[in-house]
Amino acid sequence: MRQPTIERQDAHTYHVMTRVVNVRPHDPEAGHIYHAAVEILRGGLVAFPTETVYGLGANALDPRAVACIFAAKGRPANDPLIVHLSCVDDLPCVARFIPRVAWELTRVFWPGPLTLILPKQRNVPDNVTAGLDTIAVRIPSHPVARALLRASGVPIAAPSANRFGRSSPTTAQHVLDDLDGQIDLILDGGPTTVGIESTVLDVTCAPPVILRPGGISREVLEALLGPVAVRGESVPAERVPKSPGLLAKHYAPRAELVLCLSENPAAALEKMAHLACQRQSIGQRVGLLLADQDLAYFEEQGVAAQVFSLGSADNLVQIARNLFAGLRALDEQGVDVILARDFGQEGLGLAIRDRLQRAASQVVGC
Ligand code: TXA
Ligand code: MG
Repeated sequence: MRQPTIERQDAHTYHVMTRVVNVRPHDPEAGHIYHAAVEILRGGLVAFPTETVYGLGANALDPRAVACIFAAKGRPANDPLIVHLSCVDDLPCVARFIPRVAWELTRVFWPGPLTLILPKQRNVPDNVTAGLDTIAVRIPSHPVARALLRASGVPIAAPSANRFGRSSPTTAQHVLDDLDGQIDLILDGGPTTVGIESTVLDVTCAPPVILRPGGISREVLEALLGPVAVRGESVPAERVPKSPGLLAKHYAPRAELVLCLSENPAAALEKMAHLACQRQSIGQRVGLLLADQDLAYFEEQGVAAQVFSLGSADNLVQIARNLFAGLRALDEQGVDVILARDFGQEGLGLAIRDRLQRAASQVVGC
């Protein structure tokens, strides 16, 4: 069990020394992985890199360790966790029934950024799934995550390793910024590569429903499965599967975020420039979250603001990778408002839009 207590903060939260250990991302040191696995098996909390974002891991079969995840993150108990496995043979240990479509998906996309919703096996503690009779499960592809799962020999429940409601962490420093003193260990394997979380796909219904767009795009899933529904888009409200954790408001930076949503990038940029001038005229510090191609326009317009470029607008892999880091970086620079542009809804654009919409206090059409 977790027995760290230096100082008791409240009924659920303990203050612990958070250790940060550097690991080689592609070939993690066996000794470091061994110590992290021991931490997991004694009921501790270990943050580790996955290919999407850093996860905050605990033994998924230990309800007390799982409860510590909720306490450390300040996450409500009705928001279920994703269970990570080391190999597909372990799937029947956590899922009661696995439809053929799920096996097909695991064959093509695991290990990787795809989470499947399946009927839950009884031995998985109820607090992992927030009392639901379904379970979210995936095999991550990051070598550090895989080594930790293998060494622990147990499924690991891991939400993103951020304080509840904040942007997901893509570096160990982001994890430390949010959870220092709340968790036992952080394995620092450098920045993550996908940068946004896994796609959550419910395969308990036909056609399957994307509950959260993510690292595997809708188009790629449809190439294998045929039509796939997207929650909130083509699925009538009464048929939407339960996913209590998918809140409309999430990922929020400290600054106010205004998303300029348009299918026409030029119109979005014009709106951003207009809003930037308006906000500056009332003394606010403005941050711009944009693409490399947009820099010249704002220079021409003489907009003096803090700027974070996510990369080339033609390269959504890069935009997704830098998205959460960009939100956090502008926050660090102390801006009052972040003006962000949209990247459409093709491919990874859908997941990028989803994160920006949920981080935004205001979405303006242009
Ligand atoms: O990439 C990822 O998915 C990362 C890494 C660490 O694996 N994890 C992650 O976990 O993003 P989290 O807890 O931040 O998001 C999990 C999402 C939540 O939106 C939750 O509501 C949904 O998965 N979820 C979990 N179990 C579910 C279930 N049984 N039914 C429907 N949705 C579920
Ligand atoms: Mg999260």
